[in-house]
Amino acid sequence: MNMALFDRLPNVEADLLVVFVPSEGDLPESTAWVDENAAGHISQLRETSVFKGGVAQTLLLPSLSQDFAQAVLLVGVGKSDALSDMQSRKVVAAVAAQIKGLPFAKVAVASQGLVMKDRSESEVIALVAQWLNEGFYSFIGFKQDDAEKATKVETLLLQGSDESALAIGKATASGSAFARQLGNLPGNVCTPSYLASKAQQLAEDFSIEVELLDETKMDELGMHCLLSVGRGSDQPSYLIVMHYRGGEEGDAPHVLLGKGITFDTGGISLKPGPKMDEMKYDMCGAASVFGTMKAICELKPKMNFTAVIAAAENMPSGHATKPGDIVKTMSGKTVEILNTDAEGRLVLCDALSYIERFEPKSVVDIATLTGACVVALGSVNSGMYANNDTLAAELKTAGKVSADKLWQMPLDEEYQQQLDSNFADIANIGGPEAGSVTAACFLSRFTESYPWAHLDIAGTAWSGGANKGASGRPVALLTRYLLSKA
Ligand code: BES
Ligand code: MN
Ligand code: ZN
Repeated sequence: MNMALFDRLPNVEADLLVVFVPSEGDLPESTAWVDENAAGHISQLRETSVFKGGVAQTLLLPSLSQDFAQAVLLVGVGKSDALSDMQSRKVVAAVAAQIKGLPFAKVAVASQGLVMKDRSESEVIALVAQWLNEGFYSFIGFKQDDAEKATKVETLLLQGSDESALAIGKATASGSAFARQLGNLPGNVCTPSYLASKAQQLAEDFSIEVELLDETKMDELGMHCLLSVGRGSDQPSYLIVMHYRGGEEGDAPHVLLGKGITFDTGGISLKPGPKMDEMKYDMCGAASVFGTMKAICELKPKMNFTAVIAAAENMPSGHATKPGDIVKTMSGKTVEILNTDAEGRLVLCDALSYIERFEPKSVVDIATLTGACVVALGSVNSGMYANNDTLAAELKTAGKVSADKLWQMPLDEEYQQQLDSNFADIANIGGPEAGSVTAACFLSRFTESYPWAHLDIAGTAWSGGANKGASGRPVALLTRYLLSKA
């Protein structure tokens, strides 16, 4: 999608013009200009019952005037002059849904008419650019009539002046589309080797460096805990490492680590049948790291960033790890695997030890780690845990700016004893209480040498039900976080 900015009407040419209409009070400047050039049509409409300007209400009008566009889309913003993030997202989603299937190639959105509470004009441009693009996303490749689903919109013009905000919105959308595509792919396509091939493709498209650690290499490094997860699968496991080098040579990187379980059956501790298909999304942490890498490659900030993916498939078989098995981690600590369905922490812990060699400035892992986090926070906030207050504050800020919300959860040492084992240094589950917290506690045992945060995205990475699909979260948050480090 091409994107550009325009300053004001009538200084733009487009097939479709999108203007915002409040339900009461003065019309915003662009809307008023259209109104004047269309014989007061919009003001009149607002007084009838057809279109009153309610939040996210839309009305498509053909050729109000031949002077400016083939059609005008009116979009209601309600009576408050400052919309919340949630309302704004609804409004932008309604715009995207309306124009996605229309035969217009060039669309201009008079975005200054969309006023968001506590947000600067630049933030609005970045968010509107991102959300509009996200609204155009369709999952393509597996239905016969796929081609018809792609949007006809080729060029999007937004009102404003901040080019860098537009670039951020655009790159974030491109990263989030990549993450959604990987997340939506079925487990028989998106395997650990497929993820490895995507890293190699990124290295061809952009100047990043990729290292693939196969099972032999991981065995040599002592990553037996990670390897125990893929043991029941015919698909080989991989540790995928990508280096983006935009900063000074030798400058320590910020590291993102993604859980890449390409399908989670639970292993010998098999999951129940209903909704098991959703466990194809168990690589959404990895997908968000891939998406962020793509966004960063497009934006080219001056910083060093390393992305690590711990990729495996969790299957039952005669070779699979069994409850009660004890494995040795790369750190030397032993783990009693009481439940093979608590596999995310098992792949992440060895990756976290491996990352020590980069002497990272910060490490953030992203994982669809626990059902308990979905119970605690639902699909609104990602759960965040951190061993460092500065890093926690920076992530909170990035979450606010990108409207990709998170909520900090506790890591008190009292929870740690739930992981005591009679037979090994640590048990891999902590009992029925505080399941998301004890999963984070497990990871914290491997992150003592650097500032670390963990994002549990089990509730935010995808939606179920009729709108089943990957959300692309938290690409927006992670991209903003990394940009704040440039
Ligand atoms: N991938 C799941 C977590 C999950 C469950 C994400 C449901 C989204 C929706 C993870 O590997 C898992 O199975 N966790 C177990 C841990 C338990 C065995 C301690 C869980 O949450 O039930
Ligand atoms: Mn599991
Ligand atoms: Zn899992």
